[in-house]
Amino acid sequence: MAPILKIRGLHARVEEREILRGVDLEIGGGEVHAVMGPNGSGKSTLAYVLAGRDGYEVTAGEVWYQGRNLLEMAPEERARAGLFLAFQYPVEIPGVTNAYFLRAALNAQRRQRGAPELDAMEFLNLAREKMKLLEMDPAFLNRPVNEGFSGGEKKRNEVLQMTILQPKLALLDETDSGLDIDALKIVSRGVNALRAPDRGVLLVTHYQRLLNFIVPDRVHVLAGGRIVRSGGKELAHELEERGYGWLEDGAVAGGRRA
Ligand SMILES: Nc1ncnc2c1ncn2[C@@H]1O[C@H](COP(=O)(O)OP(=O)(O)O)[C@@H](O)[C@H]1O
Ligand SMILES: [Mg+2]
Repeated sequence: MAPILKIRGLHARVEEREILRGVDLEIGGGEVHAVMGPNGSGKSTLAYVLAGRDGYEVTAGEVWYQGRNLLEMAPEERARAGLFLAFQYPVEIPGVTNAYFLRAALNAQRRQRGAPELDAMEFLNLAREKMKLLEMDPAFLNRPVNEGFSGGEKKRNEVLQMTILQPKLALLDETDSGLDIDALKIVSRGVNALRAPDRGVLLVTHYQRLLNFIVPDRVHVLAGGRIVRSGGKELAHELEERGYGWLEDGAVAGGRRA
């Protein structure tokens, strides 16, 4: 079976600046990978490039998603094909209720798969069940998407979207930031419930903390726009103790100081 995600030599620019400088990464079915790295190293850029966000220009390299050329797919096509990005800063959509938004997104995906659409009642039952898992108040369904939500509520709402949409590849960008320990545990429960042989998860995180709750199969360090180190979950603990400096120096010595 083709890997869920295969990135080869990916270079990308934002506003004329090269941020990604040759990223290689492969996620197999059932795997959870963590991408860690100092602030400004390009972690969010990597997630945005994969989701196809405007303004992020790929200049070289390849990305394969379940055997398909991801870079040739429009952003909404990527979403319909099961790629999901939970934002570092979730967007608010005034005037559109969470329930409406989620059902529209879910049904778009179901149409793509040739599955029957869910009516309002069926959707409500599904959403309530998922909200129980995340200990969310069902009243959230009737509120405009993320409007007036606290930081922690927005993060929880992103994970709700994810548990309802059941993506094949979930990208989570700093989903742990701004969460207290209880919320962190609940969010982790949602992500762990997603683990399945035909899914992959990419967790972007600055801190090791989240990885106590979602144990990754692989940990990668992004510095200077490249993966400078990969390892098992113990690498995250090493980073917690030693910081990133020792690896960043290596990245510079490794050849980009031209
Ligand atoms: N929209 C943008 N416009 C200009 N510069 C950007 C933009 N997005 C990211 N950058 C720059 O790209 C670099 C990497 O940013 P980012 O991917 O957000 O890093 P990280 O998520 O690892 O903290 C930073 O130097 C940042 O200033
Ligand atoms: Mg970021």
